[in-house]
Amino acid sequence: MPPCSTVILGTGSYAPERVLTNAELSRMVDTSDEWIVTRSGIRERRIAAANESTSDMGVQAARRALADAKLTAADIDLLVVATVTPDLQMPAAACFIQQKLGLPGAAACFDVNAACSGFIYALDTACAMLSSGRYRRALVVGVEKLSSIVDWKDRTTCVLFGDGAGAVVVGTTDQPDVGLIGTRLGMISDSVDLLCIPNGGSNAPATPASIAAGSHFLKMKGKEVFKLAVRGMDEAARDILEHHHLRADQIALVIPHQANLRIIEAISQYLELPMERFFVNVDRYGNTSAASIPIALDEARRGGRIKAGDLTLLVAFGAGLTYGSALIRW
Ligand code: UT7
Repeated sequence: MPPCSTVILGTGSYAPERVLTNAELSRMVDTSDEWIVTRSGIRERRIAAANESTSDMGVQAARRALADAKLTAADIDLLVVATVTPDLQMPAAACFIQQKLGLPGAAACFDVNAACSGFIYALDTACAMLSSGRYRRALVVGVEKLSSIVDWKDRTTCVLFGDGAGAVVVGTTDQPDVGLIGTRLGMISDSVDLLCIPNGGSNAPATPASIAAGSHFLKMKGKEVFKLAVRGMDEAARDILEHHHLRADQIALVIPHQANLRIIEAISQYLELPMERFFVNVDRYGNTSAASIPIALDEARRGGRIKAGDLTLLVAFGAGLTYGSALIRW
């Protein structure tokens, strides 16, 4: 079977009901609304209920994406879930989402872990599998319950992250120049310890001492990550534009990973593209890692920010340190 193009047929997103404001955070740790807004642009974030799992949120976003595509679970034969906070370490969050959505038993289901770049990695994986001709329609979900891995006593990280989910339905098309035009994926070496969870993996299983020390929570060297995030996202954006012989001003809307408003503003300056061409919702959700781009994509579509024929650039950066970009023509 010859390779074919892939196209996004529907989008959906979900944010938990509970809103955690900067004012509330300033009563939990030594911080202030002014510090958080100035350094990150974040005003509030959503926090999942204690009994609301990663897969529960993923299911909500997936249902909305299926409804948008006017398809049902029976139409899906591939599910790829980007997350660093699966319900359990094993099996994959995709297995729980498969079960709750009632996807066909023959659907392939697995997780991808590329942290905040995870959705672009998952999208690329799903599109490559669809292009092979061996799958017909895919659900790609980016979902995180970061509140479960954040140390709520550590002001340098707890103010930055939130929970949520986004999803897209992907299919194939005969139409030329529509859909996923290309991707670029990569990683900056020697930076694995800048953003990680030190204990709880096979190399350093959790012990009573590691738990008492809080080493099973996310740790980040924020300043170093900030610099590399700007470099990685700028390079990922430039490389994909160059590869496809495009100028930045041909991009109608950039959907960047929502980690920090200052990072997005720096990319806007480097690409010499005004902030009006960047979708921003970090103020309302904080950093939702793999969920950030699909939530933003869904909000941009539903808000009328993406029109037929538009070129959209997705660009992300995350733990690893991984980076990725994708170009989509609508
Ligand atoms: O998803 C991809 C991965 N994540 C990122 O992209 C995040 C990248 N990094 C960042 O966004 C920024 O580095 C942060 C928002 C995390 C921090 O901003 P910064 O301008 O780099 O601040 P800083 O870490 O240099 O901290 C400045 C000061 C320090 O105090 P001293 O040493 O100057 O006295 C911190 O202790 O701010 C202090 N600080 C805080 N103060 C109030 C750190 N966190 C807080 C806080 N509230 N929450």
